[in-house]
Parts: sequence; C-alpha cells; structure tokens
Amino acid sequence: MTTQHPADPTVTAADAGRRTDGWWRDAVIYQVYPRSFADANGDGMGDLEGVRGRLPYLRELGVDAVWLSPYYASPQADAGYDVSDYRVIDPMFGDLADAERLIADAHGLGLRVIADLVPNHCSDQHAWFRQALREGPGSPLRSRFHFLPGKGADGELPPNDWESIFGGPAWTRTANPDGTPGEWYLHLFAPEQPDFNWDSRAVADEFRSVLRLWLDLGIDGFRIDVAHGLVKAAGLPDIGLHDQLRLLGNDVLPFFDQDGVHEIYRDWRLVLDEYGTDPATRRIAVAEAWTPTVARTANYLRPDELHQAFNFQYLGTAWDAGKLRAVVDLTLDAMRPVGAPATWVLSNHDVVRHLTRLGAGLDREQDLRRARAATLLMLALPGSAYVYQGEELGLPEVLDLPDSLRQDPAFTRAKGTGAEGQEGMRDGCRVPIPWSGTEAPYGFGPLPGGPSWLPQPAEWAKLSVEAQTGDRDSTLELYRAAIAARRAHPALGAGDSVEWLEELPTGVLGFRRTAAGQEFVCTANTAEQPVLIPAPGRLLLASTPVTVVEDELLLPADTTVWWAV
Ligand code: NOJ
Repeated sequence: MTTQHPADPTVTAADAGRRTDGWWRDAVIYQVYPRSFADANGDGMGDLEGVRGRLPYLRELGVDAVWLSPYYASPQADAGYDVSDYRVIDPMFGDLADAERLIADAHGLGLRVIADLVPNHCSDQHAWFRQALREGPGSPLRSRFHFLPGKGADGELPPNDWESIFGGPAWTRTANPDGTPGEWYLHLFAPEQPDFNWDSRAVADEFRSVLRLWLDLGIDGFRIDVAHGLVKAAGLPDIGLHDQLRLLGNDVLPFFDQDGVHEIYRDWRLVLDEYGTDPATRRIAVAEAWTPTVARTANYLRPDELHQAFNFQYLGTAWDAGKLRAVVDLTLDAMRPVGAPATWVLSNHDVVRHLTRLGAGLDREQDLRRARAATLLMLALPGSAYVYQGEELGLPEVLDLPDSLRQDPAFTRAKGTGAEGQEGMRDGCRVPIPWSGTEAPYGFGPLPGGPSWLPQPAEWAKLSVEAQTGDRDSTLELYRAAIAARRAHPALGAGDSVEWLEELPTGVLGFRRTAAGQEFVCTANTAEQPVLIPAPGRLLLASTPVTVVEDELLLPADTTVWWAV
C-alpha cells in the first residue's frame, strides 16, 4: 500500500476524538498575517475583507481557529505591533464593520477568531504618548510610560544599560516643549514603540476596557504580544552586560518574565471569564512569553491565568530524534502540573520558515520532505498546534528580497552595525501567499499583474493553493489529510502524555498514544538513512509516499508515518 492519505475506515467519523473539556486543548490554530494573506481591494496589502473571502479555505483546511496578527490603527513602524489606537482598525485593513463581518462569517463556518493584543508598548503616535511629550516632564501622562532623566552631567546618557531587541539602546531622548534636550523614554523594541508603565492604574484600566471592547465584538480570545515584558524590575537596574539579545530566553532579565506579570493575567482571566466558562465557547488567551525554561512558561498557565503559551523551546529544536524527544518530555512534564495543554509550533511571522530553517538548504525537495515530516510529527503530539499561513503550501523563506523593499525595523536598525544581512530578519517569511494563476501576485490581489507589498518568487506559481488542490502528493493535501485524521482519531490531539517506543533504530522517534480504546502510533525518521521498522499497525498517513511490505516498512530519511493500531 502506498499512501499519504487516511486509509483507515475506523477513523473517518469527523470529530470523533474532540475534547469536551475545552475547545482550545487540542485546537489547530492558524496564524493569519493580514498584510500578506489576501488583498481584496487591490492595493497590494492584505486586508480583512481578503481574510473573510478566504475563510472557506480555512474551513476546508480543517483548522479550529484563526489568529490574526494586529489589525489596529498603526503607523506600521513594526508591521502593526506599534498600535496608535486599540479601538480602531487601520484603514489599510478595513474598518470595524469589516471586523464584525469577518467574525460573524468565521463563526458561521465554525471557526474561532483570536485577536493579537499588544500591551507591552504602543506607537509613539498613540494619543497618550503624544500628549505626554507635549506636556513635558511632570505631566501625569508621562507616568503611563517610562520617562526618566538621563545620567551624566547633562542627562546625556540613557537611564540604564538596557538594549533594544531590535538593536541599539532601549532608550531614546526626547526634546522638551521648548526644544531643549529632555527626558528619555524606554522602548524595548523600536523607538516608535514606547513601553507602557504597568504600575500605572490608567494603563491597567485601559487594557481591561480594550479587552472588553473586542470580546463584546465576538472575539474568541487573544494572543498576547510580549506577555512576559509588561512588568519591569523595580528601579530598572542595569544588566551590566552587552549583547543582551543573546541572553533572551536563557536568563531572567530585569525587563522580562518578572513575577509581577502574573497579577495582570489573573486580572485578565477574570475579564475573560465574565464572558462565560462553558468549555465549548470559552474566551481564551495565549501568551507570547519568552522565558528561560518551559517550567517558567507554565507559570503563565496556572488555572487562574492564561490558557496557552507558545512553545518556543520546541520551535527552536533541531530535527534530531533525541533532542525532539527531550523537548517533548520537558514540555509535557511542565504542563501536566498546571493542567494546561501543551502547544507546538514550527513557524510564525518572526522566524525563518521551518522548511528553510530545518532543511539543509541544498535541495528544495529535500528541505520540503523534512518540513513535511516535521509537520506530521508536530500534529501527532498531544495538545494544540499552531500553523503559520503558507506553511501548508510548503513555502520556503524568501532569502533574496531587495533591501529597498524590506520593512522589518530590525533590518533598518541593524544597518551599519555589522549585524546586517538576511539572518534574523523577518520579511522573508512575510511574503504574500500565492493563491492561484500563473502571474504575480498569484491571486493574492484581485488583478493579475497587480501589486503586492513584497514581491513573490516566480516559482511560487507552482505552490499556489489552486496548483496544489486535488494533487494527492501536495503539501496542502497532506495538511488537509493530517488535520482531518487528527479530528477523527480519538488518540490524536487530546492528551498530556506519550508512550515512547524504545526499540527503534538510532535517529527514529516513535510514540504510542491511546484513547477511547483506540491506539495511534507515530514514527519519525530524523536520520539521513532509511531504516527498516516493523509496521506497528495500519498505515494511516505518511509525509513521504511509503510502502509496507510483509509487515515491515523501509522508513525513508526525513519521513514521519502515522499508524492506526
Ligand atoms: C512579537 C511580535 O511577534 C513581533 O512581530 C513584534 O515585532 C514584537 N513582538 C514587538 O511587538
């Protein structure tokens, strides 16, 4: 039998394995990056109407929820993560009526909608910040941000040694209303993104009100940007080291993962719970929290805090059986005590697409093969999974964008520092999606030959949704089949543990999961050679076409196989 498609008649009943104790616990959540998903009005930039028009595609893909990266009013200094008004949709994306229609249509199709909330910082064009600048030192508005006098004889040095995540100091000096040099303000990201001071009651009140506004509109949950950054250590102490970017995720820094953030999330949980606690309709929140350990991530997921957090440790793990097994164990062991589902993610709008990142970079076919294997492994793990737009098409990172077109502020900030280049820059994973046709923008916008804010490679014509639909060997059909099988098989999705198979050749990862009397086995070969394994059951799905011969399978390199036992 050669197949990558569900072949087991016992697992075709849709939703047989869905959990009843919380829709998010085994949800597949699809990240839409609105600028690059679909452009309904033909201006070269994606918009909410574009997303709405493609909801049936997402329904067919089989995902449970859509997370939309920020759509708020924004000067776009950091692609919308610099919000000037949290209550308004940026005209570039549409308006509130578009958002309402989008939410209504999504709900009509059984899809939930998750908004991206940015509470660590706003835009320097936010009304509060502008007024704080206008009013000068001593203005009560300044206490909503971190304004401080500088050090040195004339205040010419920043208040401390913190570095921006995008490079350079995390402080920018302001000019007083009379034009003389004034106080400095803190921005952990770009200078256009001043950090809020969460000790200010006005900030906390404002965000409670913003949460309710979107919840009232029907939003099913929030992805919380920089959830670990809101509280800064008292006194804003120096770190004493340069290259602080390297410390991120390894050490507790005075601006990240401070214990005080948990009080904020306990408060937000009360707001979310005002909207009901039925597990089928509950409003949820997912933390983007970079912490030194998975155990510290679990702190955000205690029963009275948030519902999920991204698993960046998993995202950062190489395609290596031993390392993958270790991170899976670490994750499940950390989540079990707090009762939160594990989450799994391979790609998002901030990292190199996993096809390119995990691949050897020599041969696209080989890279794709590994990416497909990694995806099938991810979707077999217990808990919830995040899929970033375009990974279901097998899109690679675009590595040759002209500098003049790139918009990532990290790129601009790195210029002249020696850190420039493609590495660590984020435009290459944000190139608009190819939907159909043979001419750019491949259905991203309404007109052949029309604009797209970043150019798409010519070979993406072959990778469009239209080109892949119905092709049983395509990556799109693999995702569709995997998500459908995940819904149908009770031992997939749900759960908080795996039973490792120990008798497998080096480089092969295998685990068993059992639920409702049905068993499922996943085997993944991360090695460079094919290996012979006994077939543990009936072939359910494979990331590379494979053939079982007399109860044995020659499992190819970079291949994951799902089995129904
Ligand atoms: C994380 C977001 O994912 C990223 O795109 C953004 O630049 C930073 N937070 C700052 O908001």
